[in-house]
Amino acid sequence: MIERLNLIKNDAEKEIAVASSFEALNEIKVRILGRKGKMTQILRGLKDLAGEERAEAGKTANEVKNQLENLIETKTAELKQAELDKRLQSEKIDVTLPGLPLPVGGIHPISRVTDEIKAIFTGMGFAVAEGPEIETDYYNFEALNIPHDHPARDMQDSFYITEQMLLRTHTSPVQVRTMEKMAPQIPVKIIVPGKVYRKDDDATHSPMFNQVEGLLIDENITFANLKGILMLFAQKVFGEQVKVRYRPSFFPFTEPSAEMDISCVNCQGGGCRVCSYTGWLEILGAGMVNPRVLQFGGYDPEKVTGFAFGMGIERIAMLKFGINDLRLFYDNDKRFLTQF
Ligand code: PHE
Repeated sequence: MIERLNLIKNDAEKEIAVASSFEALNEIKVRILGRKGKMTQILRGLKDLAGEERAEAGKTANEVKNQLENLIETKTAELKQAELDKRLQSEKIDVTLPGLPLPVGGIHPISRVTDEIKAIFTGMGFAVAEGPEIETDYYNFEALNIPHDHPARDMQDSFYITEQMLLRTHTSPVQVRTMEKMAPQIPVKIIVPGKVYRKDDDATHSPMFNQVEGLLIDENITFANLKGILMLFAQKVFGEQVKVRYRPSFFPFTEPSAEMDISCVNCQGGGCRVCSYTGWLEILGAGMVNPRVLQFGGYDPEKVTGFAFGMGIERIAMLKFGINDLRLFYDNDKRFLTQF
């Protein structure tokens, strides 16, 4: 009996030593220590032996059983460690490899031109003011001398939120908002960059676009001051060689009103497709602040005068960079945006 036990033990030891997988190890365990295993059978047979022999065989059998169980446990731990080592090896990350390059964004051309315009006017002593994009009918129209049912409202049909609230159609409402805050102090000398909204949509019009408003109120301001400042502005943006001209126009909030053209940036005035063979490009609306608007803002038109102007930033950017479709600004196409 003892001999048989030793035989089983020796065989099992060898088998366990060379087992290379959990399956193989488990198979050995079942075959020897399982319910129908060799050891189990021996332990069951002990009861048929005589007293002394039974005691000795029983002791040895238990020892062998415990030894084999320990061996299997140790081997299981070894296999687990080997498996972990293998995973660590195969899943190793080289932290010294360079990362994947992320595409870098840039400053949007509209922001670039806005910043440039701001720098030019702040350099001439203008402050930057802002106002809400959701505006009241009062500031957007009424206080700018555009009464209800006035035909001038058709020029700027907008998106209404309620009867009295709309998305502002221009940055001009900030004129009166600023005057109200400052009156009766002078000078009022501001520019107002910001988004505006109109019911237009084609290659040169977008329902959302950007404007810069300008407003200067002081004693003895004349049209000559307006011309001087806007000439300087045009030269800084488009170059010293640029020429400007004024055409009479109409805005309810300025009187007199004018539109300013610059000599064509493409043909320098000779005539080409960009300027429709006129040599000139319209870039902004301007005029002397209407006395009624000064009154709405809290200023006495007998004491002060002022000028105002407003321009579309997309238009300036299109002329400056030679872009022929305004919608390119809003497509977010990196091939376009990385060119600036
Ligand atoms: N607000 C006018 C527009 O959007 C532009 C303008 C501003 C004209 C200031 C005159 C004075 O068309």
